[in-house]
Amino acid sequence: MSKKLYIKTWGCQMNVYDSQKMADVLSTLGYEQTPEPEGADLMILNTCHIREKATEKVFSDLGRLRDHKEAKEEKGEKALIAVAGCVAQAEGDVILSRAKYVDMVFGPQTYHLLPEMILNAAGGARVVNTDFPVESKFDHLPVEAQAQGPSAMLSVQEGCDKFCTFCVVPYTRGAEFSRPVQQVLDEAQRMVDGGAKEITLLGQNVNAYHGDGPNGETWDLARLIGKLADMNGLQRIRYMTSHPKDMNDNLIAAHGEVAKLMPFLHLPLQSGSDRVLELMNRKHKASDYLDIIARVKKARPDIALSSDFIVGFPGETDEDHKQTIDIVQQVGFAACYSFKYSPRPGTPGAAMGGIVPESVKDARLHELQALLFAQQHEYNRRSVGKTMPVLFDRRGEKTGQLQGKSPWMQSVYVNAPERLFGEILDVTVEKAFQNGMYGTIVTIPDSNPSEKREAA
Ligand code: SAH
Ligand code: SF4
Ligand code: F3S
Repeated sequence: MSKKLYIKTWGCQMNVYDSQKMADVLSTLGYEQTPEPEGADLMILNTCHIREKATEKVFSDLGRLRDHKEAKEEKGEKALIAVAGCVAQAEGDVILSRAKYVDMVFGPQTYHLLPEMILNAAGGARVVNTDFPVESKFDHLPVEAQAQGPSAMLSVQEGCDKFCTFCVVPYTRGAEFSRPVQQVLDEAQRMVDGGAKEITLLGQNVNAYHGDGPNGETWDLARLIGKLADMNGLQRIRYMTSHPKDMNDNLIAAHGEVAKLMPFLHLPLQSGSDRVLELMNRKHKASDYLDIIARVKKARPDIALSSDFIVGFPGETDEDHKQTIDIVQQVGFAACYSFKYSPRPGTPGAAMGGIVPESVKDARLHELQALLFAQQHEYNRRSVGKTMPVLFDRRGEKTGQLQGKSPWMQSVYVNAPERLFGEILDVTVEKAFQNGMYGTIVTIPDSNPSEKREAA
């Protein structure tokens, strides 16, 4: 009989990818995923530690899982609760002492060891594994993955050696590591065979990619993208998240040369002030960022730009904040994420003086977001009346609706039959919102084209 597996995922795309991989490993043990924790035999929270709020949510969710576990135990059945991901890595001990009913705590680099860990937990042991094993999980996870659908994500790089002073990632994910080229190409081929038309290459620092190539050479991200572009059936390539320091000439050139590489770049800047950038240990100046953007635009004039910003980092003055606002005005973003600085235990930022009061952070975030949202709305507005290819990778909230992505990463909603899910079709944009656009498919293809052809 199959066992039920519940996984809840927080955080970045890498966690989404990891959850998929955990489900793959566990399916070999007879676990089938269910959308609800009720009645599940194994419940996994795949957690994020990036900001304090993300961490708090884990503990409130654990309380709910405990109820489900107890309900099962009352029926004489067993249920296991596991905490995975970056909170497990950073605060494994705290979880174990605060939540006695948690059976397993394991970090992001241990997922290939799941079968053994589950066996131990089922035998009654409390399992803790926050190691960074020498062998890579990628070499040991099952290759027969469940199909991800028309838009797939593929982790090619993990970890980070940059140590920005606000960030937990170098501690929770460990040192930077690139998967070998052939392993990436094989996984991409399986994704395409499983129906993927778009692949997003993932990494905490994806443009630092330096994978071992088949002939002993080291490949950079641009070369990997170039090779993937030769793959029949794959129509769109994206990558995220990048660091300005690793935006090399090859990658910039690829934006002009590789037609399948989509015209969208997510390049976090964090602050427009050189003083704050230095406190953050970002290793570049605001002018370097502007220079990169100018060069990318030269290679691909229609590139859509996206970024991450943090307001209220320790020591940030009104003048520093103004410089952030100025650079946002100068660049013009198609999309953006912005956050209030959240001190993370163990990072250098948490020990810095010049703490910015919460009310000031609120006001700065408000001002910055108003500007970024207006830019996004304006960017979408400029698409109204245009026709563009959209990959339908999601079902809409109502039946008869589909959701997709433009080349520039805008969300596009249409009324369309379900059978068009997974297709790339031309859409004329009619309405723009801050967060997306509404349009009409130019030509709805026949429901059974091969039959039509035979008749003709
Ligand atoms: N690797 C990426 C980003 C990783 S985290 C990069 O190098 O930019 C995603 C975003 O979360 C970051 O870009 C940053 O804007 C935000 N972030 C990270 N740590 C944070 C903290 N302590 N407080 C607030 N925001 C944070
Ligand atoms: Fe964190 Fe900086 Fe590394 Fe990005 S580059 S993951 S922000 S330490
Ligand atoms: Fe969060 Fe870990 Fe990703 S802290 S953002 S899940 S790398």
